[in-house]
Amino acid sequence: MIKEIKADLQAALEKDPAAKSKWEVILTYSGFRVLVKYRIAHWLYKRKRTFLARLIMARAKKHTGIEIHPAAVIGHGIFIDHGSGIVIGETTEIGNNVTIYQGVTLGGTGKDVGKRHPTIEDDVMVSAGAKVLGPVVIGKGSKIGAGSVVLKDVPPYCTVVGVPGRVVKMHGKKYVDEMDQKLPDPILDELNRLNKRIAMLEDQLGIHACRYSISQNAENQEQNDDSQKDK
Ligand SMILES: CC(C)(COP(=O)(O)OP(=O)(O)OC[C@H]1O[C@@H](n2cnc3c(N)ncnc32)[C@H](O)[C@@H]1OP(=O)(O)O)[C@@H](O)C(=O)NCCC(=O)NCCS
Repeated sequence: MIKEIKADLQAALEKDPAAKSKWEVILTYSGFRVLVKYRIAHWLYKRKRTFLARLIMARAKKHTGIEIHPAAVIGHGIFIDHGSGIVIGETTEIGNNVTIYQGVTLGGTGKDVGKRHPTIEDDVMVSAGAKVLGPVVIGKGSKIGAGSVVLKDVPPYCTVVGVPGRVVKMHGKKYVDEMDQKLPDPILDELNRLNKRIAMLEDQLGIHACRYSISQNAENQEQNDDSQKDK
């Protein structure tokens, strides 16, 4: 436990340019103080002293505005910056060297049972106000943008932004999901189907007023019109 606390202290000193000394972090950083309490509470929780563990974390929440369930599994070198409004649920798993900013929720969607909360792998950054919901996995080294709502797994070394969260960078390069470029358009599909039926009926009646699909471009349409006139 002492080793983990030392690693958390070191993480605050390394990751926060505003941190001037060990004592400043120990005495004034709510994120560090809540982690110390969590480590004690988690130790008790594992030894079936669940009520005492919950009591410690309830008091820690009162003083820091950060709620961590003592059953959550949290690695070392964690940096919680600013603190207020953070919720870390019961079945959350957090790896090592993870950074968490104010307003983050690592919570459940309300739809899952058993493992209901996220798994955050090593070296992830969860930015201010981000919500990661459900038993999703955030891959090693990924960044969750401020204000994002993440409901799906995120591969390693990605940047995710928006609501719902979408991958915008992978391994430091811009990422375009090609699937998104070919979204089905049910209205256009239906209009094309109707056009085909009209063309079929016109064939049967021997008239040729409408001969092309609306998805063809205007140039094609003009060419068709010209050839109709020639006939
Ligand atoms: C996501 C973040 C970490 C940047 O990661 P990055 O991998 O360097 O990504 P980039 O800055 O290159 O941004 C990639 C794209 O996402 C967009 N983007 C970045 N952050 C965003 C956010 N929070 N919401 C929506 N879009 C965002 C950028 O505009 C860019 O879009 P573009 O490709 O159309 O130009 C950063 O923008 C962020 O959200 N930081 C918050 C840190 C924080 O919580 N600080 C609180 C201190 S108190």
